[in-house]
Amino acid sequence: MSQNAFDKAKELLEEIKNFIISNEEELESFRKKFVGSKNIIKPLFSEIKNIPNEQKREFGQFLNQLKQEAESKFNIEKEKIEDQTSSAKSDDIDLTKPADPIRLGARHPISIVNNRIIEIFEKLGFTVAEDREIEDDWHNFTAMNTPEDHPARDMQDTFYLKDSVERLLRTHTSSVQSRVMTSTKPPIRIIAPGRVYRNETISARSHAQFHQVEGLYIDEGVSFADLKQTLLYFAQEMYGKDTKIRLRPSYFPFTEPSAEMDVYWGLNDEIDYRITKGTGWLEILGCGMVDPNVLENCGIDSEKYTGFAFGMGIERQAMLLHRIDDIRAFFENDIRFLEQFKSVF
Ligand code: DAH
Repeated sequence: MSQNAFDKAKELLEEIKNFIISNEEELESFRKKFVGSKNIIKPLFSEIKNIPNEQKREFGQFLNQLKQEAESKFNIEKEKIEDQTSSAKSDDIDLTKPADPIRLGARHPISIVNNRIIEIFEKLGFTVAEDREIEDDWHNFTAMNTPEDHPARDMQDTFYLKDSVERLLRTHTSSVQSRVMTSTKPPIRIIAPGRVYRNETISARSHAQFHQVEGLYIDEGVSFADLKQTLLYFAQEMYGKDTKIRLRPSYFPFTEPSAEMDVYWGLNDEIDYRITKGTGWLEILGCGMVDPNVLENCGIDSEKYTGFAFGMGIERQAMLLHRIDDIRAFFENDIRFLEQFKSVF
């Protein structure tokens, strides 16, 4: 019996050494047989009591060696198989698969149109002037010859800063005119793009924030003809070489005379009828000769200098150019809307 137990143990050692483990199933059957809680080596330990005393020690040591052999083989093979499966996983990466598309950003349509307007006026020698959006009452209204009781100063139109009748969000970029005129001497030739704010109910046609570009040209001998030629150049660069313009008399507190400029849009379809109210003409901007009061308010000699000014809404130009019928689209940042302007630069 004791010799049997020894022989059995030796057989097991051979078996352990020769056991081929090449996959998870074989590993598992090795584990069950030699390492698991009901392994085949365990019962041999209870044979120790039947072994003659002088061999007990040797037999015990042999069993421990057997146990260690099984455990270390199991651990080594287990690691090998784990390595194999993880490298098999990385082999699953399909290198021929097309890459996920990278979403490219695009310029906002307002920026595109803004840049286009700047480009056109830069060719005529205008430089860009930018100034603050939080203005004081003087630069936004008083200097611009807007009397105290003018409706534009009404609380309904203007966002005043909390607890202040002095500080407000500029209602137009005309405030930059007074900023520039009080800080620089003529000749002045600037365009001033920027964001403006009005306390209006938000709808498809109007928004509480929008963008304008202001233009101002002051020098000796600037005439209404200069204004008209400048605006014609602008309209033809912006809307096409054959674009026709007309100037209609209008009123603005800061210009005298004042006018509104229309471009001939045509009446080709129903939308044209709707947006031009059946006339074919579209209003694009306000303009005029700078009122001498404005020049004097800003410290410019109105006997010596004359000038013209104009102002236009950028959203309006963008809506016309791209036939967008809801101004809110510009501020909602809906990627489906913005993506349409990807190729327009
Ligand atoms: N500030 C005017 C507005 O917001 C637009 C405007 C009209 C600007 C005539 C001008 C101008 O410079 O001359 O409606």
